[in-house]
Amino acid sequence: MRKNFVIALVVTSGLFSTNQDSIAQTKTFTVKAKEVKAEVPSTLWGIFFEDINLGADGGIYAELVKNRSFEFDTPLMGWKLLQKEEDNGSLLVHNRGELNGANSRFIRVTTKTPTGNFGFSNEGFRGMGIKKGNQYNFSVLASQLAGNVALVIELINSKGEKLGATTVTPAGKPWKKYNASLTASATEPKAILNIYAKGQGVVDLDMISLFPEDTWKNRPNGMRADLVQLLADMKPGFLRFPGGCIVEGRTLDERFQWKKTIGPIEDRGFLINRWNTEFKHRLTTDYYQSFGLGFYEYFQLAEDIGAEPLPILNCGMACQFNTAEVVPLESLDPYVQDALDLIEFANGSAETKWGKVRAQMGHPTPFNLKMMGVGNENWGSQYIDRLKIFTQAIKAKYPNMQLVNSSGTDPNGERFDYLNGELRKMNADIIDEHYYRAPQWFLDNAKRYDNYDRKGPKIFAGEYAAQSVAIASPDNKNNWQCALSEAAFMTGLERNADVVAMASYAPLFAHAEGWQWTPDMIWVDNLKAYGTPNYQVQKLFSVNKGTNVVPLLLNNEAVTGQEGYYASAVLDKNKKELILKVVNASDKVQDTDFVIDGISKLAAKGTMTILRSDKLDQVNSFADPMAISPVVKDITVKDKKVKVGLQPYSVNLIKLKIS
Ligand code: AHR
Repeated sequence: MRKNFVIALVVTSGLFSTNQDSIAQTKTFTVKAKEVKAEVPSTLWGIFFEDINLGADGGIYAELVKNRSFEFDTPLMGWKLLQKEEDNGSLLVHNRGELNGANSRFIRVTTKTPTGNFGFSNEGFRGMGIKKGNQYNFSVLASQLAGNVALVIELINSKGEKLGATTVTPAGKPWKKYNASLTASATEPKAILNIYAKGQGVVDLDMISLFPEDTWKNRPNGMRADLVQLLADMKPGFLRFPGGCIVEGRTLDERFQWKKTIGPIEDRGFLINRWNTEFKHRLTTDYYQSFGLGFYEYFQLAEDIGAEPLPILNCGMACQFNTAEVVPLESLDPYVQDALDLIEFANGSAETKWGKVRAQMGHPTPFNLKMMGVGNENWGSQYIDRLKIFTQAIKAKYPNMQLVNSSGTDPNGERFDYLNGELRKMNADIIDEHYYRAPQWFLDNAKRYDNYDRKGPKIFAGEYAAQSVAIASPDNKNNWQCALSEAAFMTGLERNADVVAMASYAPLFAHAEGWQWTPDMIWVDNLKAYGTPNYQVQKLFSVNKGTNVVPLLLNNEAVTGQEGYYASAVLDKNKKELILKVVNASDKVQDTDFVIDGISKLAAKGTMTILRSDKLDQVNSFADPMAISPVVKDITVKDKKVKVGLQPYSVNLIKLKIS
């Protein structure tokens, strides 16, 4: 793609133009429902998750306190002292260093007055989203060193009014977790949390946390239910995690290491987020990874939403757009061991070392991991050298584990050609291709896979999104032109489902006040979230993926842009349905006939689901989240023929019941 992140201009002229003379006539398409071309892999449409744009901390991870364990580079970032009078208390950051490497810092609070006039406040992630009537669960690790200090906890709205309060009273010197709850009296997008120390004495505090009770499945340390629901609604075939560049890290020390993200949350690692400083135009200086959302939670999320887990691991290389550090080949063992141990963590019995850790975390049965990625957007012979070592070790122990390999940052060019050639020589299982390109590229590439080798590796379209302005430009919009062009391209993925095994739009989430990269599939703020037109397209394809690809032809050819049409068809043998996906990328209504061959009986009525807008620059927004959303209408089937007028700039899903 882009990083160093050079913003490359994408050219969009000539897009969506049509030959206006020829579109006046009705076009007749033929569906050959008996000629099954491929099985649709259950993994075809999935989700790419990365902690970018406050995707995890401040996003799907429901923790409301930022820097809860004071491990940010600036230990009190996000915190503010509340001191109503001079010298009535103090707060000191302590560091136990080696004693607790993962969570070395805590705060020591000394109060000299019993009035409770001394305290401190947390600002949350651009404030805290609080909902009226909901319960909020506060917790803290505390050690009462001297005297008797109670903690008065208050949620405060942006006008300074109290939304709820509760108290915890730590007792005794040993570190212990204390819990208390409060119910919010009003809804507020930008609340803060005040904690007043009442009494006289000294108390040590760490892991200061506030979660809503109504997380996904009401889990403690859980995820925002509204965001997970948007993912579950897509019925995704797989969940790729944790990225993306975050896997690589700016330096090797800052790479993602799954073992540091599991176990009790107070013992997990902590890391600056690599997107903190990546874009000077979108610096996000308070962006860190608490790893409260770790690999166990990712596996659990995949299971919850019925998706195959697809973890991506570092291959011994830091991001080549940053430091490009590599581990010497002779020192690669710990990296390879991490991959082997991850398979044991996911699939091993509770008797194995890592399976036991999973079981202790609450999941005695295996997660049934079938595939994993080695490297993200790595390139050059240094990648191939390392990949070979990983592949040999993993396949020796787990011959059935499917490995996803990187083909670099771009879908063509020298790097791609080299890697594509090498990976094919290695008989790679799955090649991960990425494309952040102009909408026109997506239209032009609807045929991309038509001539790929059917006997070679499978393809994972692992990251893609049409860019309305330029790659990674902050001015990119999730507009209808982009979503429409992605839909056109996706008909090509579906038509080639015998070689394309998986596909996912990227990135997934963006916080309206904390993003670095746009476009993104789902935009969120502290209280709300909406799916973009791109989300609507992804969902439409995914929930209608069917079981078998059949030909949908115009003049005996695949439909890849003739007159602005792009189309594909699948049967759903379980639901007994024939599903046509047809994009009209032209600016005209197109009268269209579909003749269905090879099905003896079709129900007289079917449905057509339409996503459309007259305006290519139309977006969804917090104010109008469903501006572009599916509209369903009935259609008639007569003599095995469907006659429809396809609206300009429309994505149409025609569903016919086979009776
Ligand atoms: O999706 C954003 C970034 O784009 C990913 O982290 C990376 O893999 C790609 O370059």
